[in-house]
Amino acid sequence: MILRHFLHVYDFNSETLRHLLDQALALKKNPVQPLLAGKSLGLIFEKPSTRTRVSFEMGMAQLGGSVISLQNSEMGLNSREQVKDISRVLSRYVDMVMIRAYHHRDILEFAAYATVPVINGLSDLHHPCQGLADALTILEKKGPLQGLKLCYIGDGNNVCRSLLEIGTRLGMNVVVCCPQGYEPDMMGVSASISHAPTHAVKDADVIYTDVWTSMGQEKEFAKRMADFEGFAVTTELVAKAKRDVIVMHCLPAHRDQEITDAVMESARSVVFDQAENRMHAQKSLLLHLMGVSL
Ligand code: CP
Ligand code: NVA
Repeated sequence: MILRHFLHVYDFNSETLRHLLDQALALKKNPVQPLLAGKSLGLIFEKPSTRTRVSFEMGMAQLGGSVISLQNSEMGLNSREQVKDISRVLSRYVDMVMIRAYHHRDILEFAAYATVPVINGLSDLHHPCQGLADALTILEKKGPLQGLKLCYIGDGNNVCRSLLEIGTRLGMNVVVCCPQGYEPDMMGVSASISHAPTHAVKDADVIYTDVWTSMGQEKEFAKRMADFEGFAVTTELVAKAKRDVIVMHCLPAHRDQEITDAVMESARSVVFDQAENRMHAQKSLLLHLMGVSL
C-alpha cells in the first residue's frame, strides 16, 4: 500500500479531494460500517481540542476501529523524547497517527520518520481536516463549489490557509479580508486580499471567520483585539452579502469578538452542521489513507 500523509490540503489533488467529499456524503447517510475493523489510530494532542478529538474517536468507532488519545503531558514531545523517536515507536503500534502540535515543523518531522499515515490535526500553519469538513459543508449547503464566492474575515491563520487551499483547489473565488499585517502567506494560492469588510462581503455566498488569537498566541491578545477592531462578523455585515449567505466558524468561537452572538444564533449560521461534518469528512479520509473505499 502507498504511504500517504495528510499534512496540508495540497497533499491531495482536486480529484482526490472531490472523491473524499463524495465518500463523506455517502458515509453520512450510512455512518456505521466496520470497514476499519482491526485498524487503530493514535491521536496526539500538544494543544487542547474538543471537535478534533471527539470526531476522530467516534468516527473511528463507527468504522469498527480503535483509538488511543495521548496528551502531550504524557508523551513530552521534544522534552521527554524526540519527535523522530516517538514517531518510529508509535508506527510499530498503530496503523495511523493524527498529531496536533504547536510547530508545523514537528508534524513534518513526525511524518518524515513515520512508517504509517500521518494526519495533521492542526498546527500553527495548517488545519487541513477543518478545510475538508468546511468544503463538505459548503457542498451540502450550496452545491458544487466552483464559482462560489467565499469571504474569510479575520486572521490569516492556520484555518484560513487550509480553507484557501481547498477553496481555490475546488474552484471557489476566495477573498481574505484582514487588517494590514495579518495577511496569510499565500504560498502559490490565488486569492484576493482586502482590508475593507463591507466591500469584501459583497455578493458572498459564504462568510467565514475564526478567532483573532489562536492557541499559542495568547501573549498577543491585547494587541490583536485592538488591531482587529472593525473586523467582527456582525448582523450588519452579514446583511451586505447575498441574502442566502451562510456563515461559518471552525469553533471554538469567542462571541462578541470575531463574531456576534446574534450571528452565531441566526438562521444564516451553519456552525454546528460544520462541526458535525468534521466526523464525516475525517472518516472518509481515514478510509482513503488505509486504501479502503466504500
Ligand atoms: N475546530 C477545531 O479543530 O476544534 P477543536 O480545537 O475543539 O478540535
Ligand atoms: N485558529 C485556531 C483554530 C482552532 C480550531 C487556533 O489555532 O487556535
